[in-house]
Amino acid sequence: MASNSHFLVLCLFFISSVICQVTEFISIDCGGTGNYTDPRTGLAWISDNGTIMKYGKSSEVESPDENIQYRRRRDFPIDSRKYCYTLGTRERRRYLVRATFQYGSSGNEDAYPKFDLYLDATKWSTVVILDSSRVYVKEMIIRAPSSSIDVCICCATTGSPFISTLELRPLNLSMYATDFEDNFFLEVAARVNFGALSKDVIRYPDDPYDRIWDSDLEKRQNYLVGVAPGTVRINTSKYVDTRTREYPPVKVMQTAVVGTQGILSYRLNLDDFPANARAFAYFAEIEDLGANQTRKFKLQQPYFPDYSNAVVNIAENANGSHTLYEPSYMNVTLDFVLSFSFVKTRDSTQGTTLECD
Ligand SMILES: *[C@@H]1O[C@H](CO)[C@@H](O)[C@H](O)[C@H]1NC(C)=O
Ligand SMILES: *[C@@H]1O[C@H](CO)[C@@H](O)[C@H](O)[C@H]1NC(C)=O
Ligand SMILES: *[C@@H]1O[C@H](CO)[C@@H](O)[C@H](O)[C@H]1NC(C)=O
Ligand SMILES: *[C@@H]1O[C@H](CO)[C@@H](O)[C@H](O)[C@H]1NC(C)=O
Ligand SMILES: *[C@@H]1O[C@H](CO)[C@@H](O)[C@H](O)[C@H]1NC(C)=O
Ligand SMILES: *[C@@H]1O[C@H](CO)[C@@H](O)[C@H](O)[C@H]1NC(C)=O
Ligand SMILES: *[C@@H]1O[C@H](CO)[C@@H](O)[C@H](O)[C@H]1NC(C)=O
Repeated sequence: MASNSHFLVLCLFFISSVICQVTEFISIDCGGTGNYTDPRTGLAWISDNGTIMKYGKSSEVESPDENIQYRRRRDFPIDSRKYCYTLGTRERRRYLVRATFQYGSSGNEDAYPKFDLYLDATKWSTVVILDSSRVYVKEMIIRAPSSSIDVCICCATTGSPFISTLELRPLNLSMYATDFEDNFFLEVAARVNFGALSKDVIRYPDDPYDRIWDSDLEKRQNYLVGVAPGTVRINTSKYVDTRTREYPPVKVMQTAVVGTQGILSYRLNLDDFPANARAFAYFAEIEDLGANQTRKFKLQQPYFPDYSNAVVNIAENANGSHTLYEPSYMNVTLDFVLSFSFVKTRDSTQGTTLECD
């Protein structure tokens, strides 16, 4: 694979109680001292000690994240070698690959680690630790080129390279299909749950594919800013049918934001922003509208000729309320900041919603 394309998931998501595929999840606690089941999620974690990774050493993390797998990390030697984890895959099946990094050592910030992450021979990302307490998450969506993939760490320019967790989650073949997936891996830039009820992320078991949905209430540098005035949060306890292609979790789709003054806008500033992105948006009408009420809007920014002239009537496009409508926007070329806004059309009686929860 020559290079990686990027992928921006505005709001990405299924249905509770599909527990069966857990046995196909691979969850590696790098630097961990033994195998265990995490009581919070019911997922089985294995330690990389010895059998999976012979190099490096396990280090204790100061004030780790509350999840058990962040108590220790694996530090690799500072040299020019690549240190690789080999994960078994089924050829041509699609997977989510996730690597996370919580450094958790205080001290001289200039010496915080900065190193490269590879997926097979493709450079995936440069991991730059700026905040030692933050968990940095890197995700890719791939179609497995063979019966295994290598995730490798190398080339530190400062500090020693390390890793906290490595996860492999099989996806359904309907999910995230692109025409160019045999030549590119898709890097996930952001996945936002709009109208979230708390700051907590939503993931497995609410999302049977274990994608991580960040809350829009999360406040951190380079995240969501520029929220339009009049934006309100709504939620429903009614079931939302999300069984289209990407299966966003129902819980994510049960909350939304509404632009009551006719505009909904956000800027998403990302650290490592894609040159060429694909955006997925997920909408559902979750308010009970009267017979003479409609909610229609247009995408104003970013401007794509194919999409920006189209009037979206969520309930009509989704074929009914409480049902998912998931337009995706191809080949979005963006500068560092993505701005997006949805504007209500003149014949719409309701505000604009972004249900990308
Ligand atoms: C942990 O699980 C892995 C994979 O099943 C196995 O290879 C390894 O021996 C186990 N380690 C311990 C300490 O039980
Ligand atoms: C595995 O764990 C043992 C005991 O905790 C430790 O001495 C050894 O260095 C570890 N090996 C690796 C490769 O981390
Ligand atoms: C893939 O989707 C089908 C329905 O479209 C479902 O029956 C099947 O369980 C799904 N497979 C996985 C691995 O989620
Ligand atoms: C959910 O919506 C109801 C009104 O439908 C509101 O009273 C409640 O405060 C909302 N809950 C949250 C956590 O926003
Ligand atoms: C919708 O219809 C109801 C009666 O059917 C009427 O009272 C109301 O004013 C109408 N609302 C709008 C926005 O036209
Ligand atoms: C929309 O819903 C109607 C009634 O439920 C159904 O007959 C029709 O096939 C649906 N159309 C699509 C495109 O799903
Ligand atoms: C999108 O980008 C891919 C890969 O660069 C290219 O093959 C494809 O033709 C582009 N599609 C559109 C609609 O521009």
